[in-house]
Amino acid sequence: MEFSIKSTSPDKHKTACAVLGIYQQRKLTPAARALDQAAGGIVSELLKRGDCDGKPGSTLLVQAPAGAPCERIVLVGLGKEKEVSDNIYCDAVRAALKAIGGTGVREVSSYLAEVQVGQRDLDWKIEQAALVAGETLYRFDQLKSEKDDARPALHKLTLMITAAETKAAEAAVARGQAIVKAMNLAKDLGNLPGNICTPTYLANQAKAVAKANGLKIQVLEQKDLEKLGMGSFLSVAKGSEQPPRFIVMHYHGGAKGERPVVLVGKGITFDSGGISLKPGAEMDEMKYDMCGAASVLGSMQALAELALPLNVVGLIPTCENLPSGRANKPGDIVTSMSGQTIEVLNTDAEGRLILCDALTYAERFDPAAVIDIATLTGACVIALGHVVSGLLANDDDLAREVFQAGESSGDRCWQLPLHDDYQEQLKSNFADMANIGGRPAGTITASAFLSRFAKKYKWAHLDVAGTAWKSGKEKGGTGRPVPLLVHFLAGRVKK
Ligand code: BES
Ligand code: MN
Ligand code: ZN
Repeated sequence: MEFSIKSTSPDKHKTACAVLGIYQQRKLTPAARALDQAAGGIVSELLKRGDCDGKPGSTLLVQAPAGAPCERIVLVGLGKEKEVSDNIYCDAVRAALKAIGGTGVREVSSYLAEVQVGQRDLDWKIEQAALVAGETLYRFDQLKSEKDDARPALHKLTLMITAAETKAAEAAVARGQAIVKAMNLAKDLGNLPGNICTPTYLANQAKAVAKANGLKIQVLEQKDLEKLGMGSFLSVAKGSEQPPRFIVMHYHGGAKGERPVVLVGKGITFDSGGISLKPGAEMDEMKYDMCGAASVLGSMQALAELALPLNVVGLIPTCENLPSGRANKPGDIVTSMSGQTIEVLNTDAEGRLILCDALTYAERFDPAAVIDIATLTGACVIALGHVVSGLLANDDDLAREVFQAGESSGDRCWQLPLHDDYQEQLKSNFADMANIGGRPAGTITASAFLSRFAKKYKWAHLDVAGTAWKSGKEKGGTGRPVPLLVHFLAGRVKK
């Protein structure tokens, strides 16, 4: 999918399909009015006949009359003029693209960016249109022997703006394009099954991304991890026949010596629970337990494409969590790279066991901030559902910054508390800590565990268990939280 901007008026702009907004009741947006005047009143005639009333999300696809510069018109309802919300705007773009879906149209031009959406600026409207298009057009059929006939033909979306807006809009369109590409990468990696997307596969993908974008990369293997003393990470990995990998990626866009942001992604390519085996229902979805890792890979790619003047390190501990004669057993005590010992009371709480060693490894970069991204707890899905990601942090300014990146990107998160009081729940009779804290506040105690390994820097944690993929009929990776991460990084540039 290609995105671009243009500033030709609708009465002159040649396109296969023009997308025009209609307010309730039957009120034309300025672009719709301009085209209406140029094309003999076609739009107002349709409205008069009652074919389109401007209700949010309603659409009407018509062939434009001879003489009009466009071949087709999609009218899309926006509801009341003064009440266009984020969701109404995004739903309108989605509905318009769905209306075109069956037509074989390869290129469309949207005039919806002229619509006033609350306090949102043009950048937001452009970027969100790109994100919605990316979401609508994404398909994952690489493992089907017969490709879907209904594959969308659409491959180009032009966002129409005024000439004065061009400069700002260019940056927004580039960002939207980079985010969509990064989300598609993250979705693909998430959707790939565990027998294909293994730790080795993930490392090879990371190498390919690094090579294509001029990033430095290092992939540590079993022996290297042993030397580093990553006893916690290795204890999870040893239950599987697949060897673990620890991916270290460097993007140098900032000044030499400038402290980097470190992103850490949970890369469990399949989580069976281990000896504390999960129930069978929906266990297939645990192939998505590497979505944190995928979002880091995608964000590193986007960062390089946008050439942001920052230094960023991406860390991905990746392995499988399987039961076997060599697997962790409940009650086993392991020694983390930090030297702290951990009693593994539940082998299914493996994410924190691999992340804790990655967090200790992050210390060597003297990071300006560390963010880890993980499909960490089922409890987070219960607390926040599939709408927002969980956010926890040891620094309030950093938490605010991450929260704000969620707001500006539409990829939202919500902070949960991380008071010392929760540490109580991690007490162990036999080791420095247990790896589980009981049923109450499961998302918080998981972060309380991680916080013990993140004492030397500012750290935030994103629990994306509810947001990284969808279940049910629409099962599939979402590409989240790539938009949030890219906005966070872009926001760091201005400082
Ligand atoms: N990957 C899971 C978390 C998860 C579960 C994400 C369901 C999305 C949907 C994680 O490794 C896990 O199993 N966590 C346990 C922790 C518990 C044993 C303390 C959980 O949430 O049940
Ligand atoms: Mn688990
Ligand atoms: Zn897991």
